[in-house]
Amino acid sequence: MATTRIIALFNQSGGVAKTTLTQNIGYHLAQKKKTRVLVVDMDPQGSLTTFMGLEPDELDISVYDAIVNSKPLPVYPEAINGVWLVPADINLAAAELQLSGAISREYRLRNALAPVLDDYDFILIDCPPSLGLLSIISLTAATHLLVPIQCQFKSFKGTELLLSTVAQVRQHTNPNLQFAGFVPTMYDGRTAQESRTVKAVQSQLSSIATVFPPVTKSIAFADASERRVPLSLFDKNHPAITILKQIARDLEKL
Ligand SMILES: Nc1ncnc2c1ncn2[C@@H]1O[C@H](COP(=O)(O)OP(=O)(O)O)[C@@H](O)[C@H]1O
Ligand SMILES: [Mg+2]
Repeated sequence: MATTRIIALFNQSGGVAKTTLTQNIGYHLAQKKKTRVLVVDMDPQGSLTTFMGLEPDELDISVYDAIVNSKPLPVYPEAINGVWLVPADINLAAAELQLSGAISREYRLRNALAPVLDDYDFILIDCPPSLGLLSIISLTAATHLLVPIQCQFKSFKGTELLLSTVAQVRQHTNPNLQFAGFVPTMYDGRTAQESRTVKAVQSQLSSIATVFPPVTKSIAFADASERRVPLSLFDKNHPAITILKQIARDLEKL
């Protein structure tokens, strides 16, 4: 059996579509028969948990228990549209402080995932929008990184900081961490500036990893998450689905 690919969706900026891509790529990976997919919500805001139709405040399980109290990984008892979920809740916001003196705290998620690796082909980790401990914990647990980049010059600048964080994680806690690729998101092809940014992303980052075709800006993403479903179940003919499927297919080859 192939080893489990653990893919962290990481970018320290908020609103770049990490959670949206985690949900949608998770869904497309799980469409393949026999491919078992787990998504892990590592954001105290619990957006992934919400996008998947659950209310973080009403659940009695949270990834917090695994991270802070070293309990077994709390997987929600039913698959949601074929995808298994480890939910998060606001308690996770206190984890960084509570773990401040803990030994090997960077390894908390890696250790929590170890006993379930045989159960899944893919584990996608939805990182919080920060460079703090929860992101470091996520990157330490991952085999690969998928980086959404918003097609604006400002967010492109943040990539340097992102790359230096990845370099530090490789140096200290996870030498084998690899890039699965970059995904330009919320692309509005009508503005010349955005198409320039996409070209810049492609020319500067393609030496590091695959730069996928951009995911276009579309209100349908917000509509789908409001309905608590992946885009494909909201509008099965939406043009962005081709790219989501392409990313999923590429991840299968990792
Ligand atoms: N391609 C897109 N076009 C338009 N809106 C999008 C797109 N992708 C995501 N969104 C919306 O943008 C908001 C932020 O996305 P989200 O996935 O939560 O980002 P992050 O997890 O990086 O903070 C959400 O409301 C989401 O529905
Ligand atoms: Mg998010």
